[in-house]
Amino acid sequence: MIDSTTRLYGLIGNPVAGSRSPWIHNTLFDACGLPGAYLAFHVAPDALKDAVAGLRALNPGGLNVTIPYKTEIMAYLDSIDPMAEALGAVNTIVNQDGHWRGYNTDGPGLLAVLKRKLPDLENRQVLILGAGGAARGICGALLLGGVQRLGIWNRTESRIAPLLCDLEALAHTGKSLEAVTSPEAFKGYDLVINTTSVGMEPDTDETPLDVSMLRAGAVVCDIVYKPHWTRLLQEAASAGHPVVHGIEMLIEQALLAEKHWNLVSEEALDAVRSRLVEEFESDHK
Ligand code: ATR
Repeated sequence: MIDSTTRLYGLIGNPVAGSRSPWIHNTLFDACGLPGAYLAFHVAPDALKDAVAGLRALNPGGLNVTIPYKTEIMAYLDSIDPMAEALGAVNTIVNQDGHWRGYNTDGPGLLAVLKRKLPDLENRQVLILGAGGAARGICGALLLGGVQRLGIWNRTESRIAPLLCDLEALAHTGKSLEAVTSPEAFKGYDLVINTTSVGMEPDTDETPLDVSMLRAGAVVCDIVYKPHWTRLLQEAASAGHPVVHGIEMLIEQALLAEKHWNLVSEEALDAVRSRLVEEFESDHK
């Protein structure tokens, strides 16, 4: 129940109307008996500075930041964690007695989810489908997480080279980054991540990939989370590939943010994680 001891948590973004973050965090507060309430704040394009000033005065327990403010917010923080600095994006703010520190839990969240399927992720070959903003964040996280070989495929081939060029800075010696220009090369990868919007509601009969092009046993991951079972994930699972759902990544970044804000045990997080995935799956069949 909300009372005078309840701390404010929230999300800053635009748009935020469809965000799953209030559901995730409020479920966790309830499940763990934490005195928090999480709201989504729609911040207009020219209002970020005022929103930050207002929220600072209200002294929230913590905040999340989403599109389009993950980079712009960095100018208003007191310090930034090195991982967030390297990725150039903050999605989590910790308020420690008025000192606002920015973190990135999208990257570590993605790595944690993938490592449950591929514990030796660093030594695997990863194929990224797409070359937009989502691909950029995911490639950055994988490279910082130590992945040795990353291939990028995109419908519009000319967008791959500029992305590779930006990512070179994160790829230290020994790592290989390559443009994948023919689906024949897909068999060379152990993990495929769809970062495009293909297959998202309402176009649920679309898929970015013919799974018969993949190596047997390759893990297939989709950032699209509506529907829960995208056509890509359905076809991959039917062909015997392990799959990773978009909602798992979304939940993981939220649970990592929660670890920054509150003392929550791993056992409690495990229980909430399973409950959230089950609830989401039954609502988005
Ligand atoms: P985001 O920031 O969400 O990644 P984006 O920068 O617009 O959004 O990138 C969207 C990605 O989805 C791109 O890789 C895009 O491919 P193009 O560069 O060829 O446009 C990809 N995409 C979107 N619709 C697609 C479709 N119908 N088929 C294949 N790729 C598609």
